[in-house]
Amino acid sequence: MKIGFTRSDFPAGFLFGAATAAYQIEGTSFGNCGPSHWDSFAATPGNVVGGDDGAVACEHYLRFAEDLDLLSTNDFDAYRFSVSWPRIMPEGRGAVNVQGLDFYDRLVDAMLERGLKPYLTLYHWDLPSALADVGGWRNRDVASWFADFARVVMQRVGDRIAATATLNEPWCIAWLSHFLGIHAPGLRDIRAAARAMHHVLLAHGTALEAMRADGHRNLGIVLNLQYAEPGAVGDAHAKAALLEDGIFNRWFLDGLFHGTYPDDVLAGLEPHLPTGWEKDMATISRPMDWLGINYYTRRRVLNDPNALWPHQADAPPVLPVTDMGWEVYPDGLYSFLIRVHRDFSKGLPIFVTENGMANADVMENGSVWDPQRIEFLNLHFDAVRRAIRDGVPVGGYFVWSLLDNYEWALGYSKRFGMVYVDYETQKRTPKASFNALAAAIRRSR
Ligand code: FCB
Repeated sequence: MKIGFTRSDFPAGFLFGAATAAYQIEGTSFGNCGPSHWDSFAATPGNVVGGDDGAVACEHYLRFAEDLDLLSTNDFDAYRFSVSWPRIMPEGRGAVNVQGLDFYDRLVDAMLERGLKPYLTLYHWDLPSALADVGGWRNRDVASWFADFARVVMQRVGDRIAATATLNEPWCIAWLSHFLGIHAPGLRDIRAAARAMHHVLLAHGTALEAMRADGHRNLGIVLNLQYAEPGAVGDAHAKAALLEDGIFNRWFLDGLFHGTYPDDVLAGLEPHLPTGWEKDMATISRPMDWLGINYYTRRRVLNDPNALWPHQADAPPVLPVTDMGWEVYPDGLYSFLIRVHRDFSKGLPIFVTENGMANADVMENGSVWDPQRIEFLNLHFDAVRRAIRDGVPVGGYFVWSLLDNYEWALGYSKRFGMVYVDYETQKRTPKASFNALAAAIRRSR
């Protein structure tokens, strides 16, 4: 099975990249990294499959040169990575761990030496424990703590970064982690959730302003957008899908691009928002230079009148699913690219900052045959091509992920990598999908 396109099927300058995140690959036991709320969440029985944590992960802290070589020798253009807040500031504020900053300095230089464009994400979920102790995302002060951290990072590496995202996936930071309780800090509390939903965006805007004032350019954010579809016919289910779109997508898109929150979501959350939230909307909606979209799947939503707000249930999948149980639905990506460009970002460059699938990959005779992933990439790259043809300025696509890695609450049980990682030996083996994509994007020599 082959990839059904070549580099020349995309506009000149389109970036083919791969994405990772610090906690999922680096190994927090190396280099004096401080503790994060993911360490204590993972140490709590029942939260993470197998009780797995990020102490060792893919040992990327030690093996980053080998990992970047995989990309550069195969003609990838860009690498999306995140910095670990507790590695840089073990207490979240104040003292800097010199080893941490030095590591990212070397990492960025290593990308540039290999001709890879660095796409930096400042926060991909590893909140320092010291900040979690004082309320984390529930505490309004998180906005200034985050802005201070952003300035420290950018002062060191900002001169060599292609583009910077403040936060990865505010929906996950706020809703998944404070309302659904699935990610750290594992809260299920509507007041905590409402505050986190607001403070993530305030932190984004505050950091954006601080970085701009320091002269940094090419600043944006990475949103995960999930297509919401009614799981059955009928008005109630249609409304349920609309509300889900509000919580997952419009809250963030409206906030960032229109300076407002959607009424249907406010109906549930407003009583729990901090007073005076309206005054923050100007900061939240400061102009950005680019937008990242992470896209994986759709959700089929049902109205459940017996459930508390937002009165939801899930309809079972009807399309083929990945190893996460997520439906493969590339039209959702096409539809978001069109909609976001038309209704929100209006001409800003958009990057697909994550897309990919978990697959039950097995190593056989030294190789991994994952035609499902090749097919998945074909379908989703095709959706991107259609959107570009229809006028959406998509500047690049980053596969999630370069390596198999720590899949949060699912530990090491799910394999999203284009490169297989044997966690016993840390040996990396490019899967068939990696080789197929590399062949498709090879530059003529
Ligand atoms: C996204 C996360 C990323 C990874 C993928 C599968 O929500 O940004 O870290 O876990 O999902």
